[in-house]
Amino acid sequence: MRLLVTGGAGFIGANFVHSAVRAHPEYAVTVLDALTYAGSRESLAPVEDQIRLVQGDVTDAGLVSRLVADSDAVVHFAAETHVDNALADPEPFLRTNVIGTFTVLEAVRRHGVRLHHVSTDEVYGELALDNPARFTESTPYNPSSPYSATKAAADMLVRAWVRSYGVRATISNCSNNYGPYQHVEKFIPRQITNVLTGRRPKLYGSGANIRDWIHVDDHNDAVWRILESGQPGRTYLIGADGERDNLTVLRTLLKMMGHDPDDFDRVPDRAGHDLRYAIDPSSLYDELGWAPKHTDFDEGLRATIEWYRNNESWWGPLKDAVEARYEQRGQ
Ligand code: NAD
Ligand code: DAU
Repeated sequence: MRLLVTGGAGFIGANFVHSAVRAHPEYAVTVLDALTYAGSRESLAPVEDQIRLVQGDVTDAGLVSRLVADSDAVVHFAAETHVDNALADPEPFLRTNVIGTFTVLEAVRRHGVRLHHVSTDEVYGELALDNPARFTESTPYNPSSPYSATKAAADMLVRAWVRSYGVRATISNCSNNYGPYQHVEKFIPRQITNVLTGRRPKLYGSGANIRDWIHVDDHNDAVWRILESGQPGRTYLIGADGERDNLTVLRTLLKMMGHDPDDFDRVPDRAGHDLRYAIDPSSLYDELGWAPKHTDFDEGLRATIEWYRNNESWWGPLKDAVEARYEQRGQ
């Protein structure tokens, strides 16, 4: 199996590549990654001798076509992913998420290669806080932010390429991931590293917003399952029944780190902040027999805190610049 992983130097992609090399040392894994601010060679250092890393842009049609021609399957993670950055400057999101996915689709169409497209639950918009409904494959798309709008556009392109050109593609829409190698701009690593650097954690608005947390290894395990056994043309929702509001996550994290649970700052809310995401993963459970392994969120959070404690050399160089950007935005 020759596997091409776009965005494999980012958070989820790097964890995916680690597990690919562990589970299938016989596979030839190529990573295509532009190494933007969100990608790093260091995230692939533990497997650098077992993979090929190509630094390049997913919108580079010639390069993508050449790499796809040499592959049996593509897993497409590459994207601009941070909602706050999309609000500040949406243009790179249009380019990478929409044109990048178009570029990948044209290459897999030309060379007849299997594609798995990695997407997000944010394409469905927000759920109410006081209604138990969850997202399913048939929930209408209703994205709120420039980020989720570009991911929704990319998903629509994939569906159209399946229907119009018979491209063999699956799509997954996953909930919020946590775990090692996540950029310190994101909620959980930002708060852990704020505590580790003597800063106060920052909570947007009331903290009532709910996210449906899943360990990154469970997300990637589900992606494998879909790649191997999923039905081309299908969309699968990935989640692990991990709903928690932001205030609860933050207070849990502070307690685990030996701090007063109220030792944080409330900062201005994100514009258009989605209230709640929640995935109904039952068709993935029922049809593909998948189930998450990291079902104890507190245990996963504790291990993630330990990882950041032990890997300051990975995140330390990024931290001041990220906090300076947040400070400019008053957050
Ligand atoms: P990330 O921001 O950590 O990593 C993105 C990677 O893509 C980086 O390595 C970056 O260098 C690369 N990249 C960006 N622009 C590129 C370009 N033009 N060409 C080539 N490479 C480029 O993101 P992540 O959190 O690992 O997310 C990976 C994928 O999973 C994304 O498609 C995202 O939408 C999706 N997703 C993320 C989550 C989550 O909670 N993080 C949940 C569901 C789905
Ligand atoms: O749902 C899947 C999505 O999860 C992915 O598609 C995105 O790529 C990923 O970034 C993530 O999006 P969120 O916007 O939910 O994640 P973020 O880590 O930015 O924020 C999580 C919640 O925490 C959200 O309600 C905003 C809040 N927050 C965030 C930051 C950075 C804070 O309260 N304080 C903060 O400092």
